[in-house]
Amino acid sequence: MSSNKAAWLNKAGTPLEVGEAPLPVPGPNEIVIQNAAIAINPLDCHMQDHGVFVQQFPAIFGCDVAGIVSEVGTEAQGRFKKGDRVLGHAINLVTGKPQDGAYALYTAVPADKAAILPDSIPFTQGVVAAFALEAAVCALSVKTPGIAMPGVPTPALGLPYPSLQSVSSNKTLIVYGGSSSVGSMTTQLAAAAGIKVIAIASERNFDLCKSCGASEVFDYHESGFVEKVIAAASSAQGREFVGIFDAISTQETYDIDLKILAKLGGGHLAAVHPPPPEVPENVKAGMIFAVNDVATPVWKEYVTPALESGKLKCLPPPTIVGKGLEYVNEALAKSKAGVSATKLVVEL
Ligand SMILES: NC(=O)c1ccc[n+]([C@@H]2O[C@H](COP(=O)([O-])OP(=O)(O)OC[C@H]3O[C@@H](n4cnc5c(N)ncnc54)[C@H](OP(=O)(O)O)[C@@H]3O)[C@@H](O)[C@H]2O)c1
Repeated sequence: MSSNKAAWLNKAGTPLEVGEAPLPVPGPNEIVIQNAAIAINPLDCHMQDHGVFVQQFPAIFGCDVAGIVSEVGTEAQGRFKKGDRVLGHAINLVTGKPQDGAYALYTAVPADKAAILPDSIPFTQGVVAAFALEAAVCALSVKTPGIAMPGVPTPALGLPYPSLQSVSSNKTLIVYGGSSSVGSMTTQLAAAAGIKVIAIASERNFDLCKSCGASEVFDYHESGFVEKVIAAASSAQGREFVGIFDAISTQETYDIDLKILAKLGGGHLAAVHPPPPEVPENVKAGMIFAVNDVATPVWKEYVTPALESGKLKCLPPPTIVGKGLEYVNEALAKSKAGVSATKLVVEL
């Protein structure tokens, strides 16, 4: 009989403590994954430090897992079987259940938020994609605004899902923070829907942004970059500028977003944090909430074949902090110090 361990958060603002945990029991449409790798997201740092989204203590949190299916719920049996290699998006932040947190040896994950990971992709690489993928689909393809948090709508760009075929569109999107985990995934999915992406990142990460499918990349450290972005987004005849996905969403980036949108006649401002409270009438601002059923068709039909063909890449590349749940605290500390074009991963 297997046993479980987890990195528990007993109280906000304290280090996680590794200890025994109950083995997850899958709901009908869930799978249990024996995690081989877990990844750190900036949200996890807020969960640890301030208890954001923590519904009960002690808590097990974390969103990204990759590993081997150990249990399959009754309704998930058509898609998954024991022994499958998978990546998955753990959703403890909405369920509050410890068994749904990633920082454990075993995690229950909705079958609609998991996909087979091809043998050619190591778990430590595949694990970077799950949460960012769902955030990116939420940024791009929601058609009708929902509620991200009280008083804050989700953005509703209504853009097409990524396609396994080669498709083209006349739409242009700016991705601010193109080398971030969510920004690079949004670039990949938008490019796979035929959308032209203009990315904003540090010069050292231009190649990463281009390998995700960005047509042009501009360095936010360079004076005059805002004018260059505006020129690039307004240059092509017959193209429709849809707006900006801002993967950074600080006051500084919002000021720049609004300057760009003013010059380009308005558009969407899809943010990762609450958007500016006052925006001009021709700007539609919203905040993504990256647990969203809009991603289900992408999980079910796109992820595995796109990973197999190389159309979907597990980027930014992982930095493996260590092996074992004991390394989660160190990985969280590294995330708080800031990363550039990498995702922090703990191998199990
Ligand atoms: N609302 C939601 O549902 C949701 C979901 C997921 C994430 N988020 C939030 O989204 C944000 C991004 O998450 P993540 O995991 O993608 O972050 P990340 O990968 O850790 O972000 C690191 C990247 O940010 C870039 N960056 C930092 N400051 C920048 C600036 N001023 N301009 C352009 N790029 C800048 C860096 O780019 P360079 O190294 O190239 O300079 C670096 O590559 C976080 O705040 C997270 O909490 C929200």
